[in-house]
Amino acid sequence: MEKMVGKVSDFGEGAGRMVSVDGKAIAVFKIGGKLFAIDELCPHAHGPLHEGAVENYIVECPWHGSQFDIRSGRLARGPSTSGVNTYRIYVKGEEVFVDI
Ligand code: FES
Repeated sequence: MEKMVGKVSDFGEGAGRMVSVDGKAIAVFKIGGKLFAIDELCPHAHGPLHEGAVENYIVECPWHGSQFDIRSGRLARGPSTSGVNTYRIYVKGEEVFVDI
């Protein structure tokens, strides 16, 4: 299912923002003008990934430091033992859609 989650201008460069699609929390990041969508909840203990710092496409969970690649969802560093899901995100006109 896809849902409009805001306007392009709602998403600040380099910052994460949490959106909800069909009751599921998704973390959206805008890096280099491009949008990425991953699970909001860290697989380790459900830390809020949209609050994590991002560097070189790697977001760091603010709770215990697990790192994930926001392009692939791949785990880059524990303590989490698994990566996160990624979701299709695209722009139509000025509106941003996420497909889960
Ligand atoms: S909750 Fe994310 S590293 Fe522990």
